[in-house]
Amino acid sequence: MRILVTGGAGFIGSNFIYYILETYPSYEVTCLDALTYAGNLETLESALTNPRFKFVHGDITDRRAVFALFEGTPWDVVVNFAAESHVDRSIENPSVFLQTNVMGTQVLLDACRAYKVGRFHQVSTDEVYGDLPLDRPDLLFTEDTPIHTSSPYSASKAAADLLVQAYHRTYKLPVTISRCSNNYGPYHFPEKLIPLMITRAISDGSLPVYGKGENVRDWLYVRDHCVAIDRIIHDGRIGEVYNVGGHNERTNLEVVRAILRELDKPESLINFVTDRPGHDLRYAIDPSKITKELGWAPTTSFDRGIRETTKWYLENQRWWQRVMGGEYRQFSSRLYGERG
Ligand code: NAD
Ligand code: DAU
Repeated sequence: MRILVTGGAGFIGSNFIYYILETYPSYEVTCLDALTYAGNLETLESALTNPRFKFVHGDITDRRAVFALFEGTPWDVVVNFAAESHVDRSIENPSVFLQTNVMGTQVLLDACRAYKVGRFHQVSTDEVYGDLPLDRPDLLFTEDTPIHTSSPYSASKAAADLLVQAYHRTYKLPVTISRCSNNYGPYHFPEKLIPLMITRAISDGSLPVYGKGENVRDWLYVRDHCVAIDRIIHDGRIGEVYNVGGHNERTNLEVVRAILRELDKPESLINFVTDRPGHDLRYAIDPSKITKELGWAPTTSFDRGIRETTKWYLENQRWWQRVMGGEYRQFSSRLYGERG
């Protein structure tokens, strides 16, 4: 099997590449990545020495480069992770989100169509469903929940999903979509809640919690997400959407406190700051479709996942200190300078 993974130098894509290379000794994987601030070749260092892995530096919005990559190789599966993924950045500057997440997806769909690729899998997000109220724990997102987005990021991801479904219906392109809840684990860029709090706590920095820290996210260890995508690309029904999540709802404050306990740091590091505009209240996934149809269930508990993730950041300080280079420092000082 030959798999093209776009956005594989980022957090989830790199974990997926390592997972596939380990799990399937005969599979060949190529990664196409533009190496934006969020993509880092060091993340793929161990894969680069594997003869079954190839890295191609390129942008999914570059139609000529993408078509050239398809011209030479009959891909069995294309898995699209490439995206601008940070909600706060989308609030600051939506344009690049539309460019990469929508137009880039369209280029990939066109290439898959032109070269008759066996399956295009779109890695989407539970954020396309909008949010749920805090006082209705009985409500969960199902695949039938209407699309109802909040941020420019989620709007761009929803637009991409609709485009993927349109290519299936109109051109019979063989597609699948997964909508996953919040991931955490190794190689997570330290602008997102969990790695931001871990890296700041390690350095005894202050931990900026938005609002009162009451918003709820449904956390999934990244490897469990990789296994779910594996199941979908092998056995998922063409044209279907699969929700992925592990019933692991936590308030942001609970998450930050768990990290502080793991690192044996004081709660006095917590700093409540101005809330994110349009901040989604709660995400919670109903994963019963993927469980029933494909036998998927998460295997890593939140306690174990947080312990392993904290340990990983303690042991890989060189990695996160290097990725938090000039561009990230500028973004971070703009964001926290403004929001205090
Ligand atoms: P990330 O920001 O860590 O990585 C994104 C990768 O895409 C980077 O390597 C970057 O260089 C690359 N990229 C960006 N623009 C590109 C372009 N124009 N051409 C080629 N490559 C480009 O993101 P992530 O957290 O790993 O998320 C991966 C995917 O999963 C995204 O589509 C995101 O919407 C989705 N998702 C993320 C989560 C989460 O919790 N992180 C949850 C559900 C879904
Ligand atoms: O649900 C899946 C989505 O999860 C993915 O599609 C996105 O790509 C991914 O970034 C993530 O989006 P969130 O907005 O939920 O993640 P983030 O880590 O940015 O924030 C998680 C929660 O923590 C959210 O309620 C905002 C809060 N937060 C975040 C940051 C960065 C803080 O309180 N302080 C912070 O500094």
